[in-house]
Amino acid sequence: MATATKANPKKTAASKTRTPRSTTKTTAAKTAAPRAAKAAAVVQTGGSNAALLKRREAAVARGVASAAPVFAARAENSELWDVEGNRYIDFAGGIAVLNTGHRHPKVIAAAKAQEDLYTHTSFQVVQYEPYVALAEKLNALAPGDFAKKSLLVTTGAEAVENAVKIARAATGRPGVIAFSGGYHGRTNLTLGMTGKVNPYKKDFGPFPTDIFRAPFPDARNGVTVDDALKALQTLFLTDADPSRVAAIILEPVLGEGGYHPVPAEMWQALRAICDRHGILLIADEIQSGFGRTGKWFAIEHSGVAPDLITVAKSMAGGYPIAGVVGRADVMDAAAPGGLGGTYGGNPVACAAALAAIEAIEAEGLLARSIALGETFRARFADIGARTAPYRMWDIRGLGGMLAVEFVTDFETAAPDAALTKSVIAHALKRGLILLACGMHGNALRIMVPLTASDAIIEEGLAIFEAALADAIAA
Ligand SMILES: Cc1ncc(COP(=O)(O)O)c(C=O)c1O
Repeated sequence: MATATKANPKKTAASKTRTPRSTTKTTAAKTAAPRAAKAAAVVQTGGSNAALLKRREAAVARGVASAAPVFAARAENSELWDVEGNRYIDFAGGIAVLNTGHRHPKVIAAAKAQEDLYTHTSFQVVQYEPYVALAEKLNALAPGDFAKKSLLVTTGAEAVENAVKIARAATGRPGVIAFSGGYHGRTNLTLGMTGKVNPYKKDFGPFPTDIFRAPFPDARNGVTVDDALKALQTLFLTDADPSRVAAIILEPVLGEGGYHPVPAEMWQALRAICDRHGILLIADEIQSGFGRTGKWFAIEHSGVAPDLITVAKSMAGGYPIAGVVGRADVMDAAAPGGLGGTYGGNPVACAAALAAIEAIEAEGLLARSIALGETFRARFADIGARTAPYRMWDIRGLGGMLAVEFVTDFETAAPDAALTKSVIAHALKRGLILLACGMHGNALRIMVPLTASDAIIEEGLAIFEAALADAIAA
């Protein structure tokens, strides 16, 4: 159970003896109950997908795109049902947020217990133990044999923004080096760091200065680690004076950029370069963290300890919380009041995160990720050979963070975004939620809950195979 419920035994006991508000027979409670019922009716009217789509198109800005034209009614572990009662297997996990599945019982219990105590005080006004407990946990989990401290915020982009702020405060330097294909968020600074124009950066400039881009080492696309390191040295000569660079930031496995793992020797070389020039190394683990690759943090596969790590997504099993973990001296560079935000480290989300982390530990989800990765690799190779010869290419990733590309043929390996889109659409019709990624939108990424049963994985793979056959035939 989360620390939240243990935080203050006196208060927990008091709240237990108090009759829950909704069942108290007072006038206030009587008026509260119908209000709650009415609110529930307003958000879940039971409309069809088509009717809700129409309302959505009229009410929601078109810049917010949705992959599936259906509306959720409920979800459990790796399954989801839409408002028309259709069932789906979820291989997308709400964009890598659900390593512990939808509504993990421990996560839900911890969040509910916390809601019975308090839901918001703002840590900057009145502090609470779940924030401290989560920071302690993150400090203990993050790689590196040095003292660590943490900051909690709400979204991944906010975590990246704060990592840059902290790095700038710690070094007194402005520069940040990011990589082609990297994704760091949708705020102005993080968009400047994101290395993919469409759809993220289109129409949104100008972006902040002092952001530099180096090529990502992707040997298959002709950029070896050697090439990438030479380009970085050239960047130091042409644009980014290393003595003015605060940080180098990189995702251990490119997320939106196509699930390309960073070779270990790249991390090792970056560590040496950073140490030589007094630059801080930041691993953006927002998508690759919390068991997705078979380790708590994907950078652990390389043996390198970064100075700062950004975290979010699967940390809290579906609740919005993010953070920065890193060297205590670096984290303490920002002056009191320089970091934070009204909602940062919300107590319900902290309780959920502590429970999700406990579930990953108790249920052996790191090992499960490795096993799932092996299953998907083998099954994709087999399905590709049988169903779509020479169209499924480069099955890649780390552990259960895995993607496969669709190409027009093996000779040219030209990206086939249309086929990828078609497979996703056919899969949805058959009851499987899939999501693409990659610079050309032709990679399918697997973010299935690590808690999914073998039977569900097999059912999902069978749907995938049928959808692929549909798409090839179409
Ligand atoms: C590696 C990485 N960094 C940053 C972000 C931004 O996180 P958020 O969408 O919570 O702002 C994401 C989101 O997908 C991500 O994958």
